[in-house]
Amino acid sequence: MSPVRESIVKGAVTPWRAVPDSIARPEYVGRTHAAGWDGGDIHDAETIEKIRISARIAAQALAEVGRHVAPGVTTDELDRIGHEFVLDHGAYPSTLGYPGAAGRPPFPKSLCTSVNEVICHGVPDSMVIEEGDIVKVDITAFKNGVHGDNCGSFIAGEGSDAARQLVEVTHEAMMRGIKAARPGREVNVIGRVIEKYATRFGYESVRSYTGHGVGPAFHTGLVIPHYDAAPHHDDVIEPGMVFTVEPMLCMGSEENHEWDDGWTVVTDDGSWVAQFEHTIVINEDGPEVLTLP
Ligand code: MF3
Ligand code: CO
Ligand code: CO
Repeated sequence: MSPVRESIVKGAVTPWRAVPDSIARPEYVGRTHAAGWDGGDIHDAETIEKIRISARIAAQALAEVGRHVAPGVTTDELDRIGHEFVLDHGAYPSTLGYPGAAGRPPFPKSLCTSVNEVICHGVPDSMVIEEGDIVKVDITAFKNGVHGDNCGSFIAGEGSDAARQLVEVTHEAMMRGIKAARPGREVNVIGRVIEKYATRFGYESVRSYTGHGVGPAFHTGLVIPHYDAAPHHDDVIEPGMVFTVEPMLCMGSEENHEWDDGWTVVTDDGSWVAQFEHTIVINEDGPEVLTLP
């Protein structure tokens, strides 16, 4: 591998960015817990059309932010770009004010930026992106009462062969998992396919963070593992279901811990990680990706 930067350290976090009153907030903003969702994961056509709109905004925002990933840019600047894009499309950036674990602060930014060994939930701050970094950007948009959620991995500059392979394999693993999500199967088929593919390359798939039902709630309660969880997680995939598939693959061990900021999740061994995420709907004839620009 080419010379790479040292461990990621926490930078300075800027204040919450403003959201005009004209933009509707999710119910959890300003509360300590998100309301529980008991409406299930199978949605009517009208709700799915709304999710389609939020998902498209999230995907367009991700592409826009991704274009700005480069050496010398701060993750706070990426947050500004994503925040403004989402607002300009009449949506709310779902992570801004999302409640944390008990006694922890809410997420203070409009997207997650998780660099190198940061697995997920990285908080945008004054950290400057360097040549070769793997920058995961996770953006969720809320509009018309529903969320669309997606994530991509971007390499700053050219990157090492190892980093580029990790990113490509993680994307392919996500797509294989999505293609396996057909009506009548159990959701655990998705992680089985993802983990099996990751293993071919010596990568480990993160177990402690999963895909999830999404739509009228950011996280509905339905869990989509990215490892072979059978016989558990045997929810049957049905037409009308909407959920995310968002594997995080590690070059080394997937064992991880959280920083004391209550959010940032890093690999214990410092090994680098890539992630992709799509929001998908299950149609009669198979899965359809909603987070497309
Ligand atoms: N978008 C992330 C997901 O894929 C959740 C981020 S929650 C936050 O589920 F609070 F960390 F922003
Ligand atoms: Co998600
Ligand atoms: Co996400």
